[in-house]
Amino acid sequence: MNSYLSHLGTKIRKKLRLEPSISELDPYLADKELFFRAPPITPELLRAIKLISPQFHLRPTEESRRFWELNQNGLCWGEYEALQPFLSHLGSPSKVLDIGPGMGRSVVFFKNIMDWRETPFHLYESTGKTTKYTKAGPRFDDSFCGSLDLLGTVLAHNETTAFEIFDAGDLGAKLSALPGPYDFIYSFFAVGWHWSIEHFLDEILGLMTDRSIGAFTLHPRYKGSAELDRLPHRMLTFRRSWPRERWSQMVVLAKTEEALATVA
Ligand SMILES: C[S@@+](CC[C@H](N)C(=O)[O-])C[C@H]1O[C@@H](n2cnc3c(N)ncnc32)[C@H](O)[C@@H]1O
Repeated sequence: MNSYLSHLGTKIRKKLRLEPSISELDPYLADKELFFRAPPITPELLRAIKLISPQFHLRPTEESRRFWELNQNGLCWGEYEALQPFLSHLGSPSKVLDIGPGMGRSVVFFKNIMDWRETPFHLYESTGKTTKYTKAGPRFDDSFCGSLDLLGTVLAHNETTAFEIFDAGDLGAKLSALPGPYDFIYSFFAVGWHWSIEHFLDEILGLMTDRSIGAFTLHPRYKGSAELDRLPHRMLTFRRSWPRERWSQMVVLAKTEEALATVA
């Protein structure tokens, strides 16, 4: 049934709540080397993905597993291609922070592509029961919709080492309670996307040194902020893996121009 309908476009498929098709993925990104590997889609994992990514109507099938795997991996490649000059300039970080890792795709990807397997990664996330996404909206403490158990399962499936998960619930949803500083901090489709970045900037800056960089996906509804404008930063666009031909925006920021200086 699904392959019979695979020619349908993403908009129609979403409307009909059909299982997504691999043909909806950006072919350039779907063809890239696979670093993130998805485990079989159990009912438990399906529920967790649904909370984090309600736009996908996955099923417990091999086709859905493969779609999710290629989409997660392709998204990482799109972000990486935009960030690559900044990451080269950064060198080898002593500690990295992922804010809102979801199911951990970027942790797996960066550790592999950058050869940071032994670099400590701190993952700031919490288990939640409902999705309360806004679009570049305000900050609130019960916004988490992850699953710490399944995050651990997906990372173990990818044989990921040298990471520590911090339950934001135990930290009073305060980034400042994390044991920084970090050389590289990023938040993809979380802080900056659902919750506008200016509500978090003071805490993020408190976790950075003068050489650190931070990267944050920005929602199209983000209207800019005086707080960000005061900081050294660069706006980048990056290719999305789903739907096809979609590009999004990311900001790379630092406390000093020098941290971004060698990059045009
Ligand atoms: C759309 S998912 C993105 C997951 C992952 N970064 C990715 O790109 O695949 C948003 C994630 O942000 C997490 N989150 C919710 N509130 C947050 C907050 N205040 N700070 C950081 N992360 C948060 C959610 O629990 C969820 O895992």
